[in-house]
Amino acid sequence: MSVTIKSPADIEKMRIAGRLASEVLDFIEAHVQPGVTTEALDRLCHDYMVEQQGCVPAPLNYAPPGYRPYPKSICSSINHQVCHGVPGPKALKKGDIVNLDITVIKDGYHGDTSRMFQVGATSILAKRLCEVTYECLWLGIAQVRPGARLGDIGHAIQRHAEGCGFSVVREFCGHGIGTKFHEEPQVLHYGRPGTGLELREGMIFTIEPMINAGKAAISELPDGWTIVTKDRSLSAQWEHTILVTADGAEVLTRSAGAPGIPELVADQFTTR
Ligand code: MF3
Ligand code: CO
Ligand code: CO
Repeated sequence: MSVTIKSPADIEKMRIAGRLASEVLDFIEAHVQPGVTTEALDRLCHDYMVEQQGCVPAPLNYAPPGYRPYPKSICSSINHQVCHGVPGPKALKKGDIVNLDITVIKDGYHGDTSRMFQVGATSILAKRLCEVTYECLWLGIAQVRPGARLGDIGHAIQRHAEGCGFSVVREFCGHGIGTKFHEEPQVLHYGRPGTGLELREGMIFTIEPMINAGKAAISELPDGWTIVTKDRSLSAQWEHTILVTADGAEVLTRSAGAPGIPELVADQFTTR
């Protein structure tokens, strides 16, 4: 399978799926409070996707080769958990940071997006890590245009993360997305400018940097899904689904509650 170019009809469906995924995060935000379990957040999101949106939660029973079927409808990754955290009976507490990653299927098309949430007051380090990781996502988005290369995206992300004293997780990456959850290409969050696949109008992929406060190394928990930092340092992630347009990028996973473009990259979007 190679990288597909989406048709105008595909793109219209991906806009809808993307908005719906982002709206699940808008919906759940008020529920992310000290004392709530990630299992409860999973149930709330599941019911919202199924009953309010008429969507299928893509993670539920998702079983790529080598994995057991994923048991829940969202991913919730707390503090030193990097990604694919499986919701459970543990309650969030003040000072936690948590990534909620939502993937919906609407009309056969996937929308995939995640945000960081801070539970009560958090440490200066936790705040800074969430902020820098969000900037990394947008520095990546700012590279997207026909003729640019995947290495340009990875480099922009890596440079900022490492320049701030953080590290980039290597084992997981962004991905093409459409009627399948994970398609080609792999979108690495590190790399060299001018290398890798050349972007073309109509490609759709995610950018979803995972940035660690400590070292980049990760390990997998015995549940077969949850990824944690090996040194137990904090980790953050933000994700958008992106369309390559004639003159740049369109963020498909947008909604009323999605945070805006960070100051650091704002000037790179003013001429579009
Ligand atoms: N949403 C994740 C991503 O961004 C994938 C989660 S797979 C799951 O690619 F099975 F854990 F849900
Ligand atoms: Co993704
Ligand atoms: Co995701």
